[in-house]
Amino acid sequence: MSETSPKLRAELEGIPTYKPGKAAAAGGPVAYKLSSNENPYPPLPGVMESAVAAAGSFNRYPDMACTGLMNELAERFAVPVTHLATGTGSVGVAQQLLQATSGPGDEVIYAWRSFEAYPIITQISGAKAVEVPLTSGEVHDLDAMADAITDRTRLIFVCNPNNPTGTVVRRAELERFLDRVPSDVLVVLDEAYREFIRDAEVPDGVQIYRDRPNVAVLRTFSKAYGLAGLRVGFAIAHEPVAAALRKTAVPFGVSQLAQDAAVASLRAEDELLGRVGSLVCERNRVVEALRAQGWTVPETHANFVWLRLGERTADFAAACEQAGVVVRPFAGEGMRATIAETEANDVFLNTAAAFRKEL
Ligand SMILES: Cc1ncc(COP(=O)(O)O)c(C=O)c1O
Repeated sequence: MSETSPKLRAELEGIPTYKPGKAAAAGGPVAYKLSSNENPYPPLPGVMESAVAAAGSFNRYPDMACTGLMNELAERFAVPVTHLATGTGSVGVAQQLLQATSGPGDEVIYAWRSFEAYPIITQISGAKAVEVPLTSGEVHDLDAMADAITDRTRLIFVCNPNNPTGTVVRRAELERFLDRVPSDVLVVLDEAYREFIRDAEVPDGVQIYRDRPNVAVLRTFSKAYGLAGLRVGFAIAHEPVAAALRKTAVPFGVSQLAQDAAVASLRAEDELLGRVGSLVCERNRVVEALRAQGWTVPETHANFVWLRLGERTADFAAACEQAGVVVRPFAGEGMRATIAETEANDVFLNTAAAFRKEL
């Protein structure tokens, strides 16, 4: 028998593995998971009932076209169904966008640090990642990103608000940037945290996409809608891009549970958005308290806060864990903490205060 292993694509070598946010320790002190930007609220009653009802037909494949969800989204966003595509979370849709646009020899631009799936899915596609550092204010440097465009550029991610910094780009600067992008380069506005924005100057990507055929908007049910475990996200894009997304989708990838729960969530939107409003109040409280403690906190428009701790990142994360909250450290850079239940936020704030005093 031959000792050689099957030939695997060279592009897979050295791909950073996606690090899921660490789970809260079972059986430890009160442990809260602030490491994955999840929604702390349980599903709304109608949502649970829809999902449970769908569970009764596990033996069947789901509706591959996601008809009910697509119709609901089309109405909700006033877009044609042909401009919609769903996927297994918005990260699944992002990967489909890469499959549809980019391969070896191509370039993909994104800000860095940003969502940690971008380098992974770019490398899997075989395209070259072009990472453009955030400004000193932790914001996308759109001028530098436009300068980085070459005739090999196929796709550009703009993460708004940016994960993990929570910072945003506003309408005028985004429009100026888009005017500089050639019309055959796809710009993906990743708006996973859109519902947490309260600044009227931050544009709604769905308005931007309408008269820009090279813009696609990514949204998810994982964050504000609280369905992270069901894996459903979607893109709004013009016909050729949306059609390419349907071609690259894993057949039957979005379960019937996810489809029905997503529809029920859209119908329970008032209540859901009330919860989002409470999280935004908590976010403002946490940011103010951290600043009062003396921390520099970039203005966050999402359901998390970012502290650039540099070499102290690991110690800070360890102190949080000991206190009963798990945050997301990025070694040597900083940490991101999700805004969660008031008690969890208080534990986080008390830990940050104690850490600050020891500096
Ligand atoms: C910016 C951004 N985009 C996309 C996602 C993917 O979310 P999902 O695949 O659950 O829709 C995340 C999740 O953390 C994110 O932070």
